[in-house]
Amino acid sequence: MPVTVRVPAKVNVQLAVGGARPDGFHDLANVFLAVGLYDEVTVTPADELRVTCTGPDADLVPLDATNLAARAAVELARRYGIDPAVHLHIAKDIPVAGGMAGGSADGAGALLACDTLWGTNASREELLDICAELGSDVPFSLVGGAALGLGRGERLRALEVGGTFHWVFAMAGRGLSTPAVFREFDRMNEGVRIPEPVASQELLDALAKGDAAALASTASNDLQPAALSLFPELADTLAAGRAAGALAALVSGSGPTTAFLAPDPDAAAEVARALSASGTCRTVRTASGAAPGATVLGR
Ligand code: C5P
Repeated sequence: MPVTVRVPAKVNVQLAVGGARPDGFHDLANVFLAVGLYDEVTVTPADELRVTCTGPDADLVPLDATNLAARAAVELARRYGIDPAVHLHIAKDIPVAGGMAGGSADGAGALLACDTLWGTNASREELLDICAELGSDVPFSLVGGAALGLGRGERLRALEVGGTFHWVFAMAGRGLSTPAVFREFDRMNEGVRIPEPVASQELLDALAKGDAAALASTASNDLQPAALSLFPELADTLAAGRAAGALAALVSGSGPTTAFLAPDPDAAAEVARALSASGTCRTVRTASGAAPGATVLGR
């Protein structure tokens, strides 16, 4: 019996970035919000491990052993002495290299799908541990909702969300590499003493109250100047969304997807319409959050 797991995309409502650590990573205070834009990962027993992908960006997804879904299956199988002979199929709706944790979603989805297929019944702690090995954003893809990520972003504390937030996402014509954006952040901050990253209490309160206007006035992304430096045209997309009535306009994570917070679904539809007409982006999607984390479907 195949097992399908649905996994949400994320937007970072706050991304506070510290200086580079000796291991090359950056300490973060990363406020994640899962949004209702999903990849689905289906795992089926097969003769050998293989990955396929369908969806608008499918040709951009690596199908070899570097794919996070494949790496998740291999790591769970290794820990339990299982042969990872499975076919992993990714039905991809989350933009690739977009700063919305699409690859991380596939890693978390494949892990939960394989755990279910193989009946390994790994504990939540062990699944989170494997996720953290796969990448900094992968644990959040498993848990969803809203969470504060500390360390590399992998040490999570669940956050309360008191309402639905309505978002519009503008996908760009090309991707941005996360390591390249962090390198640009380091270059732009050379010689600058960067304070320890901390979550904004006002922002956490706004999330807890479901107050979109307050969330908009506190949302921030320390990677935005670096993303704009590598991809200056994103400034036009941000301006087009603001002009159409978005409460907040920011780069999502390391970009280049841009995220626009709207006060209600009608306003979101208007921002989406204006962004589509602006000619400053490839595609536009609306999605609300918080959304649940990785979920096994149809069981
Ligand atoms: O953890 P993940 O593999 O997703 O990270 C991709 C890259 O992003 C890292 O190799 C590193 O260059 C950068 N990164 C970072 N600090 C973090 C998370 C990611 O510098 N907290």
